[in-house]
Amino acid sequence: MSDMKTVNIIGAGLAGLSAAITLARAGVSSNLISSQPSERAQSVLAEGGINASLNTMGEHDTTTEHFADTMKGGCFLSSERAVGGLTENAPSIVKELAALGVPFNAQNGRLLLRNFGGQKKKRTAHAKSSTGKMIMSALIDEARKYEAQGLIRRFPNHELICIDVHDNVLANVTVRDNYSRKYLRFTGAAILCTGGLNGFFEGMTTGTTQNTGSAAAIAFCAGAEFANLEFIQYHPTTVSISGKRMLISEAARGEGGRLFIMRNGKPWYFMEEKYPELGNLMPRDVVSREMTAVVSMPECTGSVMLDLTGLSADVWSGKLSDLRAEIMSYMNIDPKLSPIPVSPGIHYFMGGIRVNIRHETSVKNLYAAGEAACQYHGANRLGGNSMLGAIYGGKVAALSALETAAKASIDSVNAKAESSLPKNRTKLCCILSSGLGMIRSEQPLIKAVADLDELLKSGTLNEIDRSRTLLGKAMLLSALARKESRGAHTRSDYPHTSADFQKTTVAGMHNGEVIIRFAAIDESEGSPK
Ligand code: FUM
Repeated sequence: MSDMKTVNIIGAGLAGLSAAITLARAGVSSNLISSQPSERAQSVLAEGGINASLNTMGEHDTTTEHFADTMKGGCFLSSERAVGGLTENAPSIVKELAALGVPFNAQNGRLLLRNFGGQKKKRTAHAKSSTGKMIMSALIDEARKYEAQGLIRRFPNHELICIDVHDNVLANVTVRDNYSRKYLRFTGAAILCTGGLNGFFEGMTTGTTQNTGSAAAIAFCAGAEFANLEFIQYHPTTVSISGKRMLISEAARGEGGRLFIMRNGKPWYFMEEKYPELGNLMPRDVVSREMTAVVSMPECTGSVMLDLTGLSADVWSGKLSDLRAEIMSYMNIDPKLSPIPVSPGIHYFMGGIRVNIRHETSVKNLYAAGEAACQYHGANRLGGNSMLGAIYGGKVAALSALETAAKASIDSVNAKAESSLPKNRTKLCCILSSGLGMIRSEQPLIKAVADLDELLKSGTLNEIDRSRTLLGKAMLLSALARKESRGAHTRSDYPHTSADFQKTTVAGMHNGEVIIRFAAIDESEGSPK
């Protein structure tokens, strides 16, 4: 293996596995390094499905419509070329997953597609509501085949602690084996597939609590630019359970679930009344905002409820039995019999490491894919596009990385790195959530920036917490700089979308300071400018 071209992949969820398999198929080896084994990656929690205009049951869908819905859902902040690639490749990706044995719901040998938010056609392939788990099982198995051939070498429980960049070129990455506490340094190109920033909003997201966001903070302070950090998706239907928010999959509404609130003593199906075309399946930013508005109306009482009592027995047994079991076990309510109270919770980070359409970052030889990267989803991601974006992005990043891949080395090194401390994480989370709620405005954002500055000056932060705080500051400053409302970024003081802001928010570190600027949406194949 040492004479082979090798790429280092950090993160072993969908994007990482997709990159590793793509490289292996091209005869290039990879080191698949992750703080958790693939089986515990965030991707296994993905529920409702994966989008592709497959037309299996005469839906009359096209890749053009998938493209148009994705661009519109993202409020035209995504790269058209990137989204074009994503949506055109979606059917072949889903067919390949089916060929690998993913047990998608099907009838007479044809995949069943379900309705999902922000889309007029049935386009979401699904395996009940455990689609992520099923896709991950298939890809883990596929990766093992290449592992046996020496093309994939796995390093589970290895946490990224340093990215070394010289003259804007990646030199190496250092990781710690969290079991042996030994350190390894990997040279060669690297693809960051480290997921979203759940750990910046501890307990408030549907994501895994293991996904700390520290890798992103390390990348930021090593010099990688980030983009669109202000766009944080609130999923309309979540439930607070111990330590996190539980996702009630959009599949529930896709299969006929209805949202209502009691108004003057009667159920009011506010989404259906206000949005006759898509109703309960409007894009997530719209549904979440409407839910927040109705709960504060004086004529409304109680929480918004999700009514699933009208779903047929076939839907429950064939498509949502796993979701029902989850609701019964965590909420002690049988959703077949009674509506359940739901409220919006943080679900996805549209922003991330800035990449161009080849998934190159602003640092040479460093690539990023999946939720770690900013690509495809603009100001608001459509449900069903995240697994697609992770798999496709992983492939694209791998194909770009293999062009420059070279022989790489792994060395044991003496290093020492502290982990992020719970008390610092809690402080950061409190400050960020005070500024970055679903509805933002200037004063709370300015106050939150000042609070972070104080924390940075306090001398109480270790290196990793300092990096995390700087990335948190970049999120706040991005939200402050975008003086408009668009997608998941709602400013009460700038309630309208402005054509002047149809551009990418770019955050970077310069001389120890966080700098924010705006750039044209990157349609190029060159490095981000
Ligand atoms: O609601 C869901 O099942 C979420 C799906 C997604 O975010 O793509």
